[in-house]
Amino acid sequence: MSNKPLHVVILAAGKGSRMRSDLPKVLHQIAGKSLLGHVIDSALELNPAQIHVVVGHGKDLVIDSFAQHAWNDRLNWVEQTEQLGTGHAVSQALPFIGSDGDSGSDGKSANVLMLTADVPLIRSSTLSAMVSAMSSSPLALLTALVDDPFGLGRITRDESAAVSGIVEQKDANSEQRKINEINSGIICADSEQLKIWLSQVSNDNVQQEFYLTDVVGLAYAAGNPIAALHPDSNAEVTGINSRLQLSQVERLFQAEQAEQLMNNGVTIMDPARIDLRGDVEVGSDSVIDVNVVLQGRVRIGRNVTIAPNCIIIDSILADNVTVHSNTVIEGSELGADVNVGPFARLRPGTKLADKVKIGNFVETKNAQLDVGAKVNHLSYVGDATVGSNTNIGAGVITCNYDGANKHKTTIGKDVFVGSNSQLVAPVEIEDGATIGAGSTITTKVEANKLAISRGKQRQIDGWTRPTKAR
Ligand code: UD1
Ligand code: MG
Repeated sequence: MSNKPLHVVILAAGKGSRMRSDLPKVLHQIAGKSLLGHVIDSALELNPAQIHVVVGHGKDLVIDSFAQHAWNDRLNWVEQTEQLGTGHAVSQALPFIGSDGDSGSDGKSANVLMLTADVPLIRSSTLSAMVSAMSSSPLALLTALVDDPFGLGRITRDESAAVSGIVEQKDANSEQRKINEINSGIICADSEQLKIWLSQVSNDNVQQEFYLTDVVGLAYAAGNPIAALHPDSNAEVTGINSRLQLSQVERLFQAEQAEQLMNNGVTIMDPARIDLRGDVEVGSDSVIDVNVVLQGRVRIGRNVTIAPNCIIIDSILADNVTVHSNTVIEGSELGADVNVGPFARLRPGTKLADKVKIGNFVETKNAQLDVGAKVNHLSYVGDATVGSNTNIGAGVITCNYDGANKHKTTIGKDVFVGSNSQLVAPVEIEDGATIGAGSTITTKVEANKLAISRGKQRQIDGWTRPTKAR
């Protein structure tokens, strides 16, 4: 590995006209993360001195979307006011790099790794192989052999098979168009050499752009050895220029993630029908059925079963949890042996201790349920704590909102709340209490007492049912 400082330059200034979108191309998403976000995160794994992102089209939107990024302080946003080509874009970042830049290291050159924001699946292992190749050449390219090279820059080689240049699709003659070794767009160069080469690039080509790719021919002409590496898989260098390619790369990425889970001992009923959009870990012997979306930071234990059509966002599920179909879980923590659904909705702040049972059409929010508590049907439990082994009957509602403020319901352990009761918060129900079905509870219920508040049943003798008028 070369011990020069590493600077990354990410090209993200283009409009991406072929997307036909108001959103800048680099903010379109793969697995819930922007294309640029994927590239930045891979680059960060190399621990570079700095990442310079060249922005132009929609630049404020692009910059704002990274305001909350954990490594925002390592990002140097460089503006390219006019999109005059990839070479011109890199030139905008060079003043910040190397001997005459403020973040270069006194008089020494740096390695400059240039990435394009529309090639999102690139792996950091491939990038670090490129940086390693810099110990023997001032220029390294990432190239790939593909079946259909249409639209991409072609790698030209001389009689001795050494890389001699890159010719763009639009500038290539018919012989060159037959070449199936393509430029991934990812190039690494010595900063001082790069400055010299780029100063010689002209826009004398079909697109009248300053091509970064022209530095390859210039380096070759000056007698430099040029390293060409391939990625482990061509998926890594698949670029996105259209919505169709966006969907194809999404499926490539999802297939890769599903494979990783299966390698870790998870059963996935259909790898083509699962979507992981974030940082997801699943323990072995868990089974995930079709149409499940796992989003944000999700931690799932061992031997967990997730039935079809469930969405789990930013949540933790301990071992042996069962999630029945059509359940939505967000911002929640589920203990071991918990059972939820079908059709349950756990909203943020839900904490279920071991062996809790949440049944169909139950909604919880900011609710802590202790070991073995049960809410089996059609209830709303919000801003509440529920003690262990308490049973909440069908259709019970914690009335937590008075139209202006939220209030808390505190329910002890071994409580039985009869069906169709309303608990008007703030209110407390002590351990062992029983609430008769259909009660509206507005004041504290003491331990082990029965509270009941409903009209007494009457029976009317001699009553006749009305008959239909003719
Ligand atoms: C580029 C390469 C091509 C390679 C392909 C791989 C050049 C001239 N061509 O072509 O050899 O096979 O990538 O995907 O480099 N950008 C700017 N400023 C500009 C122009 C572009 O920041 O003035 C950015 C774009 O936002 C994009 C990247 O550079 O992220 C690549 O530009 P794009 O127009 O997509 O180039 P390609 O035609 O794909
Ligand atoms: Mg492109």
